[in-house]
Amino acid sequence: MTMLSENPAVTLNGAGPDVRDLLVRSTTWEADDVISLRLVDPDGGELPAWEPGAHIELVLPSGLVRQYSLCGPPADRGGYTVAVLREAAGRGGSQELHETVLPGKTVSVRGPRNRFPLVEAARYLFVAGGIGITPILAMVRDVSARGADWHLVYGGRSRSSMAFVNELVELGRDRVEIAPQDERGMLDLDAVLAQGTAGTAVYCCGPEGLLAAVEQRCAGAPMSLHTERFGSAGAERVAKPVDVDQVTTFEVELRRTGCVVTVPPGRTILDAVRDVVPEAMSSCEEGYCGTCETRVIEGVPEHHDTILSEKERQAGKTMMICVGRSKTPRLVLDV
Ligand code: FES
Repeated sequence: MTMLSENPAVTLNGAGPDVRDLLVRSTTWEADDVISLRLVDPDGGELPAWEPGAHIELVLPSGLVRQYSLCGPPADRGGYTVAVLREAAGRGGSQELHETVLPGKTVSVRGPRNRFPLVEAARYLFVAGGIGITPILAMVRDVSARGADWHLVYGGRSRSSMAFVNELVELGRDRVEIAPQDERGMLDLDAVLAQGTAGTAVYCCGPEGLLAAVEQRCAGAPMSLHTERFGSAGAERVAKPVDVDQVTTFEVELRRTGCVVTVPPGRTILDAVRDVVPEAMSSCEEGYCGTCETRVIEGVPEHHDTILSEKERQAGKTMMICVGRSKTPRLVLDV
């Protein structure tokens, strides 16, 4: 996982300058309930560079913040492309986006950020489920252009629900396995992962069940596994239970704002920060999206998110303030 403090393209909560208004140039129907959006600078300028695996956050007209993987060609600085699955049972973000973020509108965009970077490897095995294909598409474009050794297995409910099938097949007819469930049944993950050998980087994105099954099969295997830890890229993310210990009160100094707030049991740091910084960004508020990530200047954070790696937790340089707490009586945050 990329350390945010090492990535100059990343701006953390409250810092603001990587937010920009982009124009929705066009939308394209990619599959059942999936549209892609082409977002461009209204003045025709170039957008910040990004690498495969990156995502952007869209601040919707209602104020909801949703994250979507970039799925266009990374070399294209003239615009960003994201694809969004409409989820009737979601929390409203994808519905709002499908209905209101239309060509000609502007939308506030933050990022790009990359928590799913493509590492150098002798061979790549991509496993995508449903709308989880979006970050994988950008990766496949990259490895295909580099002439790397790669294979993709792409599962979905039915062929009509699977976005970007034609583009993927064009990128590697012999390397792409399209597996609609209504034609071929469930993915045979044992057979898929048997293709992985030492030196293979396995990248998986899709529903939680697919990720868990792939993780289980890769445990102890010689390949390196990389997953995007949420319900479905391009879709609204699935809530995970977060066990937050809320027995102590502590203080949080907001260094840039120049004030101190108290965080009692039953309130989150995010709640307390919002008392004085109402615009503090968040999305899932359950510790799995990364929107509220904030730099820690002093003190020892107690992490309750499902994003940071063990190494990042030990370093204690950033935290998710929607669920994190403090091990010290005072935390100093870069807010
Ligand atoms: Fe999603 Fe905090 S808002 S991790």
